[in-house]
Amino acid sequence: MGNDFYERINGMIKDMKAAGKYKEYQHIKTPMSGKTVIENQDEVTVMCSNNYLGLCDKPEIINAGIEALGRYGAGAASVRFICGTFDIHRDLEKKTADFLDMEAALSYTSCWNANTAVIPALVGEGDCIISDELNHASIIDGCRLASKKVQRYVYRHSDMKDLERVLKETQSFGTRLLITDGVFSMEGDLAKLPDIRRLSDEYSAVMMVDESHATGVIGNTGRGTPEFFGLKGKIDIITGTYGKALGGAGGGFVAGRKEVIDLCIQTSRPSLFSNSLPPVVAAMALRAVEYLDENPEIVESLHKKTAYLRKELKKEGLEPLEGESAIIPIIVGDTARAIGMARAILEKKVFVTGFGFPVVPEGTARIRLQVSDALSYDDLDHAVSVIAEVFEKY
Ligand SMILES: Cc1ncc(COP(=O)(O)O)c(C=O)c1O
Repeated sequence: MGNDFYERINGMIKDMKAAGKYKEYQHIKTPMSGKTVIENQDEVTVMCSNNYLGLCDKPEIINAGIEALGRYGAGAASVRFICGTFDIHRDLEKKTADFLDMEAALSYTSCWNANTAVIPALVGEGDCIISDELNHASIIDGCRLASKKVQRYVYRHSDMKDLERVLKETQSFGTRLLITDGVFSMEGDLAKLPDIRRLSDEYSAVMMVDESHATGVIGNTGRGTPEFFGLKGKIDIITGTYGKALGGAGGGFVAGRKEVIDLCIQTSRPSLFSNSLPPVVAAMALRAVEYLDENPEIVESLHKKTAYLRKELKKEGLEPLEGESAIIPIIVGDTARAIGMARAILEKKVFVTGFGFPVVPEGTARIRLQVSDALSYDDLDHAVSVIAEVFEKY
């Protein structure tokens, strides 16, 4: 390989460092919870994990993994249609579908995988995809992976007039796959599901919702944005993750009508060409969905803590973006500033992340807080005082 190649890569990294945009990993040494230990630091309060329900270190879920490890061994050792499908996959998929009021579900190794699997599987020549401009990167990549013969349309974020304009423009297409996040991951706002459902019906579009930040978080029992808006069982396709509220172990899923799931089994490339979710992870995900089903009060507890954090931040004069989810972003503008502030907050033992370009549009860098039921009210008070102190300094 020529020296030019490595010079170019080194140059890019140097530029990121000079611009203050270089990201560094924090190596964590204990289970993810309200508090955790980062290498070379003391214990920190975690305000940036997806462990919304505090299930990562729940003994019930860990024990389900230990038991499954003994029963199934370490790995799946195959793609699913060859010899990589275990009974625990079927049990997980049935439980997921039942929990969400959907006919069937199919697991993947992540929701990234699920989104990049299902979208190309469902559309072909003569079809189009219609996507909210702030949809998650995995949806964007799923759209990119669809056949070149599929037309793509993007509507302005949650702008129903713009969506209707696109739906009118695209009436000549066959299948129109309309995709939205249920909770937008960088903004924390909810999709306007009732309007999107109404427009999908009016213009005969197929509606797909990514519930990664919604399942376990939104709705009284954590069944996501369809529950919140009274639309349970009325969404055509739901994708989601087992790596956030649902236990944190990992994995993703597609849920929908039986024939949609069957088509994914037959044609989606990650199912055909990549190993299945390890059975031990499937067992923990299954126990997490069961746990949530049996203990809906953890969702109410998360809602109360989220409302409390929002209230306390505002009392300190901070201006978090409004929303119903457990994602609370505070816009700071410049990427280097967001990263610098996150570092200063971490020095005071509160773990937050600064997000900047290219993860969010230039000029809208932010500190994104995420609430977990594993956090105590004292943890939340401590986090607010540290964050307010750093914001004051900056
Ligand atoms: C909306 C959304 N979809 C999909 C994903 C990917 O989920 P996973 O970590 O299971 O790949 C994420 C993760 O950040 C997300 O926020």
